[in-house]
Amino acid sequence: MSLPHVVVFGSINMDLVAKTPHLPAPGETLIGHRFSTVPGGKGANQAVAIARLNLPTVMIGRVGNDRFGQELLQSLQSAKVETKDILIDDSISSGVALIAVEDQGENTIIVIPGANGQMNESDIERLSSYLAGADSLLLQLEIPIAAVKAAAQAAQKLGVRVILDPAPAQSELPIELYPLIDILTPNEVEAAHLVGFPIESPALVAEAATVLQQRGVNTVVIKLGAKGGFCATPDEAFFFPAFRVDAIDTVAAGDAFNGGLAAALAEGKSLREAVTWGSAAGALATTKSGAQASLPDRATLITFLQQTDR
Ligand code: RIB
Repeated sequence: MSLPHVVVFGSINMDLVAKTPHLPAPGETLIGHRFSTVPGGKGANQAVAIARLNLPTVMIGRVGNDRFGQELLQSLQSAKVETKDILIDDSISSGVALIAVEDQGENTIIVIPGANGQMNESDIERLSSYLAGADSLLLQLEIPIAAVKAAAQAAQKLGVRVILDPAPAQSELPIELYPLIDILTPNEVEAAHLVGFPIESPALVAEAATVLQQRGVNTVVIKLGAKGGFCATPDEAFFFPAFRVDAIDTVAAGDAFNGGLAAALAEGKSLREAVTWGSAAGALATTKSGAQASLPDRATLITFLQQTDR
């Protein structure tokens, strides 16, 4: 059986990661434990997450004509992501993310977009040739919003499912973007930014999803980390539990969730099964360090699903 491919349109970053005893307070200088340079970027992480689950995956984005750009392309290629339409932009350096990860696994991230920030409607030409026959287009918010909107419009025209991860958190998305989205996947913080109220109880989680659906989104999946998540479609709404793991690094857990979700849907699984795949992939990603390095392969995910209770 040949499976439909999945397309990711978004950011590609080199992550400069410092492991620290705690996250620095304003004005504080900290002595960290360790430094590493690892491939990341929300778009590229989602592409690798899907490809590791053996789905044909295409990445459209930009890197700079520099050493980081070469390493970022190699990381995608070694995961078997199609990279031939990633633009190497001579005018600017590759995107980077400055990440602090503390001993309990929490993190802070500062992204310098570099080449990602140059993406515009001209990148849609390279995207368009991959949309026909695709199962889903995955989008995030580390590239200019005009490019995100144009990509979603192109996908909707061809009936390709649009999955938007509204990360990093933003308070305002253009209102005309919402009806272009089939599945919106904020975490708690991102959902609160979008709706303008804190998501402090299960009732408020459900209310936030309703607000987002009223703006035109078909399905909302709110990722609640160790508390699991909430899913609202036009027909049903349900909370789902998290898998319990010993988390050491939460970087890219949200990207792993979106990758697992999209891979399961591309295989024809139900939305309930897809959020279970997303939760499992997200949980597994927290058990290893790094962004792309932490994303599970198919055998690991399947074994985990068979052996782990929630
Ligand atoms: O979601 C994690 C990612 O956010 C990191 O890999 C970093 O590059 C930032 O984009």
